Amino acid sequence: MRPTRFRKSWEIPASAVTSERAYYNRRSFLKSLVGLGMVASIMPITGCNSPDSKIALEKTLDLPKLKFTTNQAFTKVDRPLTDRYLAGSYNNFYEFGGNKNIWQPAQNLPTDNWKVEVTGLVKYPRTYDIDDLKKQFPLEERIYRFRCVEAWSMVLPWIGFPMKALIGAVEPTAKAKFVRFTSFYNQQITKGPSVVFGALPWPYTEGLRIEEMANELAFFALGIYGRDLPKQHGAPLRMVLPWKYGFKGGKSIVKIEFLERQPATFWHTLNAREYDFEANVNPAKPHPRWSQAEEKFIGSGPDFSWEIRETLPYNGYGEYVASLYI
Ligand code: MTE
Repeated sequence: MRPTRFRKSWEIPASAVTSERAYYNRRSFLKSLVGLGMVASIMPITGCNSPDSKIALEKTLDLPKLKFTTNQAFTKVDRPLTDRYLAGSYNNFYEFGGNKNIWQPAQNLPTDNWKVEVTGLVKYPRTYDIDDLKKQFPLEERIYRFRCVEAWSMVLPWIGFPMKALIGAVEPTAKAKFVRFTSFYNQQITKGPSVVFGALPWPYTEGLRIEEMANELAFFALGIYGRDLPKQHGAPLRMVLPWKYGFKGGKSIVKIEFLERQPATFWHTLNAREYDFEANVNPAKPHPRWSQAEEKFIGSGPDFSWEIRETLPYNGYGEYVASLYI
């Protein structure tokens, strides 16, 4: 076992931090996209560094409480739960900007009267609203490890229902082999630096093989920390796939399509070499620009400092999923 090393979130080399000015500079932003995508660095945790912003952040998290049961198979993992303020202020949601501090712009996401269309190769296509989903599928809490491809990790208590319950409700036909999940996108609202972002393959899409979607672990989250899902986490419905890198978990899902062939997806279209379709957590397979052998388990020490941990194959969930990949 490696000794625990704590580092403060501000102990980051200046070179690893994107300043706001540089971020809004179109040229440097375009340049950062040459590497096409994410960077393995810990950005400073700036979400709530003043009392006012702490209150503002709290407002975004203090949503209605959900009714749910605890799934006894997923009540704990080998590391502590991440603080909810940290999880709610250190996010990736590129529709709202290219840094971690998007919890404020993400509040522009219009979640009223949300509809999720389930379509394609299914016997019973249907458009659900969020209340339909809450009524039809019993909600449960699962504590899962979360591993971003950028090599940071958290532990999060999701509330939702297994994806296989939706498969049971819509009954895919024998031809259905893949599933595409599409996130909300409206250029008037999802205003990352839109000039640059216009060039990206929006909307954000992700995909699974149907056997992956049917796996026990694959989960739709409608909530986190006992309450409705905050917008920055991908309200009102997002994907959670704990054995895969975080980018596979599309946020704010509006469409689910059952298909015969593997769909094009956002990161894979942008850079197939760096973001493969399968994207299972694998410490033995480095990202072309950084190692995946270790991860920064953030928020684990005092003052949201982070700790280096060894990355586990399938993020520790091999017993559930390894048989899918033989
Ligand atoms: N979904 C959408 N629509 N847009 C995104 O930018 N980022 C992904 C994933 N889902 C992303 C997304 C990435 S890279 C990660 S690590 C997780 O969301 C982050 O989830 P969190 O912010 O709730 O921790």
